[in-house]
Amino acid sequence: MEFKFLMPTKVLLGVGCVAGNKEEFSKLGQKALIVTGRNSAKASGALADVTTVLDEQAIVWELFDQIEENPTFAVVEAGGAAARRFKPDMIIAIGGGSPLDAAKAIAVLAVNFISASELYKGDFQAAPLPIAAIPLTAGTGSEVTPYSILTDSERQTKRSFSDVRIFPQIAFLDARYTHTQSRAVTVNTAVDALSHAIEGYLSKRSTAVSDCLALEAIRSFGRACNALVLGEFDISVREELLYTSLLGGVVIAQTGTTAVHALGYSLTYFYQVPHGRANGLLLGEYLRFNEPVVPQKVEAVLAALGLKTVDEMKVLMSRLLPSREVYSQEELHKFVAIASEAANIVNTPRQPGKEDLYNLLLQSLTCKA
Ligand SMILES: [Fe+2]
Repeated sequence: MEFKFLMPTKVLLGVGCVAGNKEEFSKLGQKALIVTGRNSAKASGALADVTTVLDEQAIVWELFDQIEENPTFAVVEAGGAAARRFKPDMIIAIGGGSPLDAAKAIAVLAVNFISASELYKGDFQAAPLPIAAIPLTAGTGSEVTPYSILTDSERQTKRSFSDVRIFPQIAFLDARYTHTQSRAVTVNTAVDALSHAIEGYLSKRSTAVSDCLALEAIRSFGRACNALVLGEFDISVREELLYTSLLGGVVIAQTGTTAVHALGYSLTYFYQVPHGRANGLLLGEYLRFNEPVVPQKVEAVLAALGLKTVDEMKVLMSRLLPSREVYSQEELHKFVAIASEAANIVNTPRQPGKEDLYNLLLQSLTCKA
């Protein structure tokens, strides 16, 4: 047995964890740039909790609340410029995957005079500012990953850059902050977390430790599954889903994502399909495609969800993600061409050729005749 396991983020999970651990913020410095989207940090109550704690700790703060969904190079460069003007000691990221990922880029750009596209070269000199991450959705797991996924308009896809120095230093997970998320967002993000766990479990880079965490994440999703189908989320379900998401994030921090994410990015880029939904639409056929090379793992995934067959998995996903977009076959070929270039495709256990990727899309999506 041989593996590496790295998870340097301190995780605090529980209702009231921000106010209950206020000293953690002053450990990061005396000046904070809060990076968030326009609404949900305020609506969730997280922003008020954070600023109250910062004021109590005499930490000077400024708000950058311009992060939109699927953040662009332009918005993280604007955030980097704001950070260079304000000169914070730390970045506090509050939001779903988009603000958290954007905050990681801003933490780098705050101290490195480079463009956003240069983030992908991975050779920035100055260490990024430390990040405190507070997720408002349960899905991305970005609070415990070294990844930042941004929209690259030139390449017409979402792209991830990775650096061990952008692991958040600390993550605060309070299920109350996810309470304002709609049913659709809750389901889509939960399916993203499931996808992280399944892809990570099957990934060529999976290890004995990541497998333990992945299976527990899948079981955790299974425990919340009925509530997701019914659309009924009390605080204990919300907390379960934050746990699923956290574990899924720890898993992909070790294993990377695979062909599901590589293909799903095109659905999001070209059709604005929410990220988790895009993954979920592909998951059933992804299991079927990989079954010949990792049959026991596919069986274990299904068992952890209380299912017996891939077809049952597809039924579950169609209950969670009902209405379907309609694609043309030409578009599927374009998605395949883009996914074939994605770095994460090589983590897929059964290496897919272009024909395989096309068939996977064809079997998963509704296509025009
Ligand atoms: Fe994801």
